[in-house]
Amino acid sequence: MEIIIRPDASAAVELVSSLLSQRIRSQPDCVLGLATGRTMEQLYESLARQPLSFRQCSTFNLDEYVGLTADDPQSYRHYMQQHLFSKTDIDLRNTHVPDGSASDLKQAASDYEQAIQAAGGIDVQLLGIGEAGHIGFNEPLSAIMSRTRDKCLTPTTRRQNAGMFGGDAERVPSRALTMGVGTILDAREIILLATGKAKAAIIAQAVEGPITSMVSASALQLHPNCKVIVDDDAASGLQGREYYDFVFDNEPEWADFRP
Ligand code: F6R
Repeated sequence: MEIIIRPDASAAVELVSSLLSQRIRSQPDCVLGLATGRTMEQLYESLARQPLSFRQCSTFNLDEYVGLTADDPQSYRHYMQQHLFSKTDIDLRNTHVPDGSASDLKQAASDYEQAIQAAGGIDVQLLGIGEAGHIGFNEPLSAIMSRTRDKCLTPTTRRQNAGMFGGDAERVPSRALTMGVGTILDAREIILLATGKAKAAIIAQAVEGPITSMVSASALQLHPNCKVIVDDDAASGLQGREYYDFVFDNEPEWADFRP
């Protein structure tokens, strides 16, 4: 795992945007795992501004609320359409979001896993992190080997996501269809982006704490190619900052990305 700390949210977002742009240019048919949420809005805005073609890319989103259809303005399919897909030349037939409106969720989950396999697996998985440590909607106690399935959301997550539902946590669906922690760990590369003070405590637990299913993001410590990109605020609980900064300032792989 590598931790890269940038001075503010815009710099953290721009770094992730550069990493993804570079990947899409060097591998135009790459398979991207995508996330939603407030943190990603700035990132998608930046990506959509790049002179970049998504024409040959395939995408798989992490999750979708159970019970929402693709055309529901609160669905993650709608979010993706609004923040990224409609602003790029991506071929919508190559975009995938779990089907939270399926009558058979088990089947929809297994179809999703198969579609990822059929695409050759995920090249780069983008992640945010919830305040209870979830990646995707893998709430505390999600098995580290879990696969795509429907999952009950924690009250913390429903409160955190209430903004999209008129500020009322009760209106946030109580379940979601989400890639499992194991599905996420199968990606060949993982990039987690977190910004803001509200993420400081959970970033410290996920990165420097023990690997535990109580903090799903801590499972990323097992991944051989995972980058965690944070701003100063989200990094404020980390103990090993001197070393993380030294790596960014000195390792040749980061030379193109240093200001
Ligand atoms: C969304 C997702 C979630 C979010 C996380 C952070 O697809 O998978 O794990 O990334 O809840 O959300 P924000 O960025 O709104 O704090």
